[in-house]
Amino acid sequence: MEETSLLWLLFVISLLFCTTNQVRLTVSPSSSQRFKGDFVSLSCEEDDSSAGWTLRRNTTRETRAECDEWGEQSGSSCNIHGFFSWESGVYWCESREGSTSSIINITVSGGSVILQSPVLPVMEGHDVTLHCQTKNSSKLPADFYKDGSLIRTEPTGHMTIHHVTKSDEGLYKCHISSHGESPPSWISVTEEPTTTASPPASTSHQLVFILVLHLVVFCPLFISTLLMVSLYRHRPTENHLPVSMVMTSPTQAEQGLDDDYDDVITEHQF
Ligand SMILES: *[C@@H]1O[C@H](CO)[C@@H](O)[C@H](O)[C@H]1NC(C)=O
Ligand SMILES: *[C@@H]1O[C@H](CO)[C@@H](O)[C@H](O)[C@H]1NC(C)=O
Ligand SMILES: *[C@@H]1O[C@H](CO)[C@@H](O)[C@H](O)[C@H]1NC(C)=O
Repeated sequence: MEETSLLWLLFVISLLFCTTNQVRLTVSPSSSQRFKGDFVSLSCEEDDSSAGWTLRRNTTRETRAECDEWGEQSGSSCNIHGFFSWESGVYWCESREGSTSSIINITVSGGSVILQSPVLPVMEGHDVTLHCQTKNSSKLPADFYKDGSLIRTEPTGHMTIHHVTKSDEGLYKCHISSHGESPPSWISVTEEPTTTASPPASTSHQLVFILVLHLVVFCPLFISTLLMVSLYRHRPTENHLPVSMVMTSPTQAEQGLDDDYDDVITEHQF
């Protein structure tokens, strides 16, 4: 009886961990824009390496192309030595079952200025710093634009937006005089921590929610059941009589708990 409860509990817990196993796409260096010829390393990071994630991309020339078609696979990383401008596009990790990581936009600039912005959505309330730089320098005065309008001029090329809100979402670019303009990059702001998004995400999130609910509701029940069962198993059989008397006697029901604990303590001294 108690073993089936325990097995059921373990089953629920393992199911919970299974469904929350997610993949993160990481980019190094972490920037939404790179210069033509730059090195970039991407990897699908996960808790369970048996899930078989594949790094894919859509570029101006390719659709759903896998790492071995365009990069150098090195362990869990996919490296690109010398980015081409046409390799601008979206990059993501995809499992055999079709679930995906966050999708990352990478723009390869053939010009002389890039805007370094976060590759993943920024959490509401956090600070975000944008860097405007040339190949040689990241400390030149720069103008920053959002959705086509000049928003700030920064003497050192770094612009920090404090406590971002949904209204900070938009298309950003920067300009360094005598060098030129960066390509635009979209900055998105989310309310939640970034989790993996996929077509069946809503159903799997619902499943996780249901499992958490079940765990929260049933966990105290299971623990108390297990405690009671182990308590009773340690009792010598002849001591069952006084306990059942306490339980069935309505007048002693209130003080029954205290008596129970006294019984347990004295019994364990045997
Ligand atoms: C990649 O391109 C294919 C075909 O155009 C499209 O169906 C798919 O949604 C694209 N994937 C992403 C992540 O943009
Ligand atoms: C990628 O960038 C384009 C425009 O530059 C934007 O419309 C799109 O939403 C971006 N995708 C992601 C996943 O950030
Ligand atoms: C970068 O610096 C080198 C010399 O250090 C210079 O020759 C080159 O023109 C500079 N390039 C840019 C884009 O400023």
